[in-house]
Amino acid sequence: MKVLAIESTCDETAAAVVESCGAGVKILNNVVASSVLMHQKYGGIVPEVAAREQIKSMVPVIMEAVGKDRDSIQAIAVSFGPGLMGSLLVGVESAKSLAWAWKKPLYSVNHMAAHVFANWIVESMTTEVPRFPAVSLVVSGGHTDLVLMKNTKDWEWIGGTRDDAVGEAFDKTARLLGLPYPGGPEISKAVERVTEEMRDKYGSKFKLPRPLLNENNLDMSFSGLKAAIAKIVNGLGEIDEEIRDMLAWEFSEAVIEILIKKTMKAVERYKPKSVLMAGGVAANKQLREGLKVEVEKNEDIKFFCPELKYCGDNAAMVGVAAVIAPNEVKPVELKPDPSVTTV
Ligand code: KG4
Ligand code: ZN
Repeated sequence: MKVLAIESTCDETAAAVVESCGAGVKILNNVVASSVLMHQKYGGIVPEVAAREQIKSMVPVIMEAVGKDRDSIQAIAVSFGPGLMGSLLVGVESAKSLAWAWKKPLYSVNHMAAHVFANWIVESMTTEVPRFPAVSLVVSGGHTDLVLMKNTKDWEWIGGTRDDAVGEAFDKTARLLGLPYPGGPEISKAVERVTEEMRDKYGSKFKLPRPLLNENNLDMSFSGLKAAIAKIVNGLGEIDEEIRDMLAWEFSEAVIEILIKKTMKAVERYKPKSVLMAGGVAANKQLREGLKVEVEKNEDIKFFCPELKYCGDNAAMVGVAAVIAPNEVKPVELKPDPSVTTV
């Protein structure tokens, strides 16, 4: 099946054409336009600015993704939530209009599930795909969930954050440290600047707490870390670049330790065949490498994480979700749902 997918839940306007390939899905074309630079001066996303840009770029982005595939497209897919209402409306109404005009079936996709399905993107018929049961760590700007997948549609929420999402914690911490938005990649870069000498010099001076780490559950908490950074920064007054990078390093160490320990606790409990990671924060190099090492200490469990370009918001993952776990809807009945949960 060849699907045109549309994604506009946050500040991206994206369209992709995907096609089923063996047990997975191949990406034929993937176009993403982002208004992130327009939000930088505000330190976060301004919903009205995002939606206005999406209205302008939706048609050109779809045209570019469709290219020469116009006649072979068999279905339309779109994320209906969670996300920003104005942004969701642009994507959902565009998809409904196309489905109606082209007389093609319409598939609705949960944006968070789509992040997880990015792990089914394949290069060829022989590329391996996740096996069930799978434990999935979903880490984005708005969500931090641990999900047990029994099959493509039967999912159980087994744990996650009690307060801030991990991406949100990265973004807020970056802001406290004077780093630009979005904070995740900036903190990751700061971590790479930290040297052995700097770590020796500061020792455990800025060591942060690991909230809920040793509790026997799959709950996580990140807002205290952000508060601890705020307290240190306020106490120091001015911070130089070296201290800024050290604080970013300490924050990243704490967050990654929590995410890895809790995911491995889920692995111990549910004995999955695969462990998946997904969402914008899955682009974090230190987290990808750290979790892979821990998971693969178990010889019979395979670790999956999408290629970097499929971690952040994109439409390819939406098309993949529609192929792997199709949910056909009547165009007149599809409405955006800004607060739908992951499962
Ligand atoms: O999945 P996503 O693109 O959008 C949502 O659905 O929320 O995730 C965006 C989040 C932002 O908070 C951003 O700071 C974070 O992903 N992020 C990262 C990295 N790249 C993006 N966080 C940590 N390290 C990164 N390299
Ligand atoms: Zn997302």
